[in-house]
This record gives sequence, C-alpha cells and structure tokens, in this order.
Amino acid sequence: MGRLFKPFELKSLQLKNRIVMPPMCMYSAQNGIANAFHETHYTTRAMGGAGLIIVEATGVLPQGRISDHCLGLWHDEQGDALARVVERVHAAGAKIGVQLIHAGRKSTVTGGPLHAPSPVRFSEEFPVPEAMTQGEIDEVVEAYRQAALRALKAGFDLVEIHGAHGYLINQFLSPLTNFRLDHYGGSEENRFRLLTEVVRSVRSVWPEALPLSVRISAEEYSEGGLHAEDLARGILGANLKGLGVDLLHVSSGGVVSATVRDFPGYQLEFARIIGTVTGLPVITGGRMTEPIHAEDVLALPGIELVFLGRELLRNPYWPLAAARSLSEEVVWPKQYERAKYR
Ligand SMILES: Cc1cc2nc3c(=O)[nH]c(=O)nc-3n(C[C@H](O)[C@H](O)[C@H](O)COP(=O)(O)O)c2cc1C
Repeated sequence: MGRLFKPFELKSLQLKNRIVMPPMCMYSAQNGIANAFHETHYTTRAMGGAGLIIVEATGVLPQGRISDHCLGLWHDEQGDALARVVERVHAAGAKIGVQLIHAGRKSTVTGGPLHAPSPVRFSEEFPVPEAMTQGEIDEVVEAYRQAALRALKAGFDLVEIHGAHGYLINQFLSPLTNFRLDHYGGSEENRFRLLTEVVRSVRSVWPEALPLSVRISAEEYSEGGLHAEDLARGILGANLKGLGVDLLHVSSGGVVSATVRDFPGYQLEFARIIGTVTGLPVITGGRMTEPIHAEDVLALPGIELVFLGRELLRNPYWPLAAARSLSEEVVWPKQYERAKYR
C-alpha cells in the first residue's frame, strides 16, 4: 500500500486515508445555520472517499464570521443543524472536523463593530477596525470555549482553530498587523498570547482523546512579515504541543495584500519546516490535483495528511479515481459499486 491510502491515527481519530477536504467557505447559511446545501455538499465529499472533512470557517460570534452567510456556532440551533451534517458524513464513512473562526478586521458582516489588535484596516474596502479591549479579547476567548462545547455536542471528531489567512488570531500573531503596546503586542511571546489563550480555552472543554488542530499561515509574502521559521519558533516558544495542540494545518498568506506565486506544492517547503521544527504532524497541500503528487508530498518528513480544496469542489469523487490510478483497493459507496473501475 502507498502513502495516500494508508490509514492514519491521531488519538481516538482514525482516518481511512490521508485525504483531507480543507475548510472552504460556502457563503450559503442564514443566521449561521447549516441547511440542506451543507448536508449535501459535505456528505457528497464523504461519499467520494475523503478521509477527513473540515467544515468551513464557522464563526464563534456573529461579528466573528467572515460574511453574513457564513456558518456560526454561538447558539444551540446552529449546533443542532451541524449535528445533522456530522451524522450524514459519518454514515458515509468519513470523519469530520470544524474550523472555528473570528475574522477580526476582515469580517464583512453587516452592523459591526469591526475588531482587530490595532486600528489598521486591511484595505480601502474595509472600515478602520477598533483596537480590542481586554474585555473584548476575553469575550472572544470564551466564545471559542462555548463553540467548542457545541462542536463536541454535535459529534465532531476534530476541532480546528483558524489561526491563518489574516483573520483575528493571525492579526495578533503578525508584526504586520499587531502594533499593540500591551501584553498582546511586541514580543513573539506577546503576539502568540491570544492563540495560546484560545487553545487553553478550547482544550478546557474539548476532550483529551479528540485531536485539536491549528491552521497557520506559514509565510506572509511581505517584507517584515513572518516566515515558516518564525512561526515554527513561536509555536515551540508558546508550547502549543504542551497545551494540547495535536496537528498543524499549514497554509499561507492573507495577512496583508501580497502577490503569491502559487503552483502545485507551493506551500510544501513551509510545511516541511513547520513539521520538522515543531515535531507536530502536519496537513498541507495547495493546488494539488494529481494523485501521484499527493503521494509524493506524504514522503516529506512530518507531513501526514494532504488537503485538496478546489479539486474536491470540482470533483467530489477524486479519492475514488485517485485510488484507481494508484492501484489501491478502496471501499465504494454500496449504491455506486456497479460503477467501480475494473
Ligand atoms: C471557496 C473557498 C473558500 C475557502 N474558505 C476557507 C475557509 O473557510 N477556511 C480556510 O482556512 N481556508 C479557506 N480556503 C482556503 C482552502 O482551504 C485552501 O487552503 C485553498 O483553496 C488552497 O488549496 P487548493 O489549491 O487545494 O484549493 C478557501 C478556499 C476556497 C477556494
């Protein structure tokens, strides 16, 4: 057996293969509540054979969503709706996680206020955000705890904290967006403080046996911004592993506007550095389409899982086709068995 279809185990999470559907906003919710679209969308990828599905960025607070039509987990009705998605994905044979977000200065939710570490806007299209008070920071940390509790009740197998793409936690991490003079700004330890507080808060309710992932932007593509080595050092310094983080989901960019030369595998070197330095298992990917490429990525030290985003939007059955091209025997949905490649 090759690497892509080799099962993976992390605490009590058992995956049948290494293929991950990363979080991708679908902007299709009303009041943050999942509906028939979400049930169909995620279940289809589960039927197509992905091992792990991570549900799109889900707001821990109304103003923490990226848009008015993003999912949320700040009240029970939202948790109940997501529980139906979880149940269907499980029935289709995949595991499922949820990505928890506060979008900070990049939120486009109507009605504000827009929050950020410092009053600096992302671009001309965004209003100037308010620098968060200690009370507002505490509220976000607590909202993460409550959202994690609802995720647990909904039956999720994994929770992911969105620390990437220039959203709130990333805004605190980066010296390009954090100009605070208090104990959340300046030094690396201070810039990592919000992330460590959120990790502690989530871990206080998320059971030890279930994995916790953090998504990071390991390259900011801008002068004065963070690079993979900086993030890796910060993660070690903040002792994220000791605080209960089990997995790092390596992505890049989004902190400030920058030109990114993206090609298949463009984030691999960042992922390799993060994995080797931190000793934590890593998910990575980016513009992946070829099964053999995904197979090769998993040969890199520390990289345990590979994500396929847009490719799984184009073709939910990519894993079934990939198994064929890699000559792997996989279980097909019972209803589709007659379509199995021979
Ligand atoms: C429509 C769309 C929505 C996305 N939403 C999210 C999101 O909610 N959270 C996140 O961390 N990344 C998000 N991303 C980034 C993807 O998870 C992934 O990192 C990116 O698409 C690159 O992978 P790919 O080349 O395989 O598509 C989104 C990407 C797309 C295309």
